Amino acid sequence: MPVELNALRLRLLGQVLQQGAATDPSVVNALRTVPRHLFLPDLPPEQAYRDEAIVTKRDGDGRPISSSSQPTIMAIMLDQLAARGGQRVLEIGAGTGFNAALLASIVGGRGRVTSVDLDADTVEHARENLDAAGCADVALVTGDGALGCPDGAPYDRIIATVGVWDLAPAWREQLAPGGRLVVPLDLHGVQRSVAFELAGDHWTSRSAQPCGFMRMRGPFAGPERSYRVGESVTLSLPHDRAVDPDALAAVLAEAPTVVGTGTTPSAAELFDGLSLWLAVREPRWCGLSEVAGAGVPTLRAAPMRAPESTVTAGILGDDGVALLSRADGELAVLGYGDDTVAGELLAHVQDWISAGRPGTDGLRIDAYPAGVSGPDGDIVLEKAECRFILSW
Ligand SMILES: C[S@@+](CC[C@H](N)C(=O)[O-])C[C@H]1O[C@@H](n2cnc3c(N)ncnc32)[C@H](O)[C@@H]1O
Repeated sequence: MPVELNALRLRLLGQVLQQGAATDPSVVNALRTVPRHLFLPDLPPEQAYRDEAIVTKRDGDGRPISSSSQPTIMAIMLDQLAARGGQRVLEIGAGTGFNAALLASIVGGRGRVTSVDLDADTVEHARENLDAAGCADVALVTGDGALGCPDGAPYDRIIATVGVWDLAPAWREQLAPGGRLVVPLDLHGVQRSVAFELAGDHWTSRSAQPCGFMRMRGPFAGPERSYRVGESVTLSLPHDRAVDPDALAAVLAEAPTVVGTGTTPSAAELFDGLSLWLAVREPRWCGLSEVAGAGVPTLRAAPMRAPESTVTAGILGDDGVALLSRADGELAVLGYGDDTVAGELLAHVQDWISAGRPGTDGLRIDAYPAGVSGPDGDIVLEKAECRFILSW
């Protein structure tokens, strides 16, 4: 391996460690030795070794449908998975094959990694990449990961590297006793990477971490919807709900009412705390994101920033929209159209502050089979397969 590739890989590992990820020595070793550039063969190595998600495939509308995930979040999830030498692991979402190669390094020669992807061409490329990296033993399968992969079951560990709406019955059936499942779970529009284990009749979480993955496609995709509003803004809704993007663009072009909240939470607190609070408590919750630099006035002061976009959250009512923003340095609520939703958003902000600004820290999620009565928690999210109980 040329010296500069080694240096690039060590620099990336240093960045991952600086984020507090890769606490498990076998994850550190995998990141130190598996060559990411072989999984992104069309990129110059300097780009392949950035701590960034890299989109490798888009659909006909330009939406990303495959990528190599950001190394830091991959390391966080591999820590959560806690796979050990000799174990059998199933990955859902093979993508470039890079995570499967990290898993192969962690479980070693006595272990076995199987990775499933929905798209045959993605699997083909992953095969080429894995072979080039000397990982011919990783088994790749084209199929819907919601069905798992019965041929290699049972698995000691199952990990999804694509956002899941619900927990598929196949994952429970194919997990070995004492096994662990790690998934980017959708909590009504925001995701948390959750490590679950079975506890009798239900799943219980061992850890949860903020994350943001492209969503699973296919019959198990869930009801989330996104709309393009104007040239550069994307509206995300947790439920399938009819929206007229042109009418919304016109409303957002009006001058809003601006109400200060009297607080100045950081972008990280808003991402981790307030957006989670809204998502699980407010059915009319919405997210708006804009490609960085596009400069739509509404989003210019958006309080949250992702690497390539500005992001905000709010409530989409029938006759008005309310969005979080910043004004004079403090968190503010912008109200468009009917003021009622702006008042409701302000009340959520105040409730979140009074509750001590909770975020993912201390969040526990139990998932019971849908339709089975179980204990109550702070929040209950009913989905097709599971009833998710969130408590702090
Ligand atoms: C973020 S990428 C995975 C990244 C990958 N683990 C890597 O290391 O490059 C998500 C992948 O999930 C796949 N996917 C989407 N829906 C799926 C489904 N229902 N079953 C299996 N794979 C799916 C996509 O085709 C995409 O390749």
